Amino acid sequence: MKLLVTGGLGFIGSNFIRHILSARKSVHVVNLDLQTYAGNPQNLADVASDPRYRWIKGDIADPKAVEKAISGADAVVHFAAETHVDRSILDAAAFLRTNVIGTQVLLDAALKTRVGRFVHVSTDEVYGSVPKGFSKEGDLLEPNSPYAASKAAADLLVRSYFVTHKAPVVVTRASNNFGPFQYPEKAVPLMITNWIDEQPFPLYGDGLQIRDWLYVVDHARAIEVVLEKGQVGEVYNIGGTKHFTNRELIETVRDLMGVPKDLVKPVPDRPGHDRRYALDCAKLKKLGFKHRFGFEQAMKETIHWYRGREDWWRPLKKQGGYQAYYEKQYSARLAASK
Ligand code: TYD
Repeated sequence: MKLLVTGGLGFIGSNFIRHILSARKSVHVVNLDLQTYAGNPQNLADVASDPRYRWIKGDIADPKAVEKAISGADAVVHFAAETHVDRSILDAAAFLRTNVIGTQVLLDAALKTRVGRFVHVSTDEVYGSVPKGFSKEGDLLEPNSPYAASKAAADLLVRSYFVTHKAPVVVTRASNNFGPFQYPEKAVPLMITNWIDEQPFPLYGDGLQIRDWLYVVDHARAIEVVLEKGQVGEVYNIGGTKHFTNRELIETVRDLMGVPKDLVKPVPDRPGHDRRYALDCAKLKKLGFKHRFGFEQAMKETIHWYRGREDWWRPLKKQGGYQAYYEKQYSARLAASK
């Protein structure tokens, strides 16, 4: 089978490509990735010379690049997206272009070439904050950040191509991922790498926001199951194994790393910050999916990975773009909290 994977140089996409190449010996992967700030060829250095893998540098919103990459593909797994909520608050333009227009360009190309299956990778953030209970796939979409709104728009576009054009689409909505190769702007890698350097982690608001944590390798395994067994036109939630507050997350990672308590700095909250995400994953489980990794074990492995791969994250944190973002995002908040 020939798979077109979009955004395969990113965190989740690269973990998926590594997983699928090792789990399925008959799979060939073409990776269409523009290599934006969070895309990194180092994420797939170990498979770069595999004859079953090829990277095409290109933009999913560019029909010509997509036409070239999709040629001969049996299926598409679409990860490419701008994903960081805080960046979408600072500037939403790239989110709309990549997440919405990029998805439309891909869907049109997939229809034209009669691709057999199109897995659209989305997020639990499209449901908005859920004070109680667990989001089901048919629930109302009430996104609260520009990022979540762009993903919800893409999900609805995918649905419309199924209804109108009978496109063979399946949507997945995952909870917060963590694991190796996550760009150090998201909470978990920011926390671990700041703490390795004995720098504080900036905690937004009261820290009582609840997230459902999914190890990225289990996410990759779940997408494999949906790619193979998911029903066309359906949506599948992919949740994790641990559901707790950011304060509890901090305590767990702090205990595992053995860092002092004062390395957390409460800062003013993120505007529109969702209080709680929680997914009902019964539908995915009916396809036969089971998690392989417990939360603590996966977090231990993640910490071990960041400790061993300073060669990977230090250059990223030294880049001018990262430093400018950090300054814009945190300086005012840190100053306000003094
Ligand atoms: P994040 O990794 O940005 O994922 P998302 O916003 O998509 O859930 O954040 C996870 C949680 O951690 C979220 O509640 C926001 C919080 N957070 C902080 O408290 N401080 C930070 O510096 C970051 C990046 C996140």
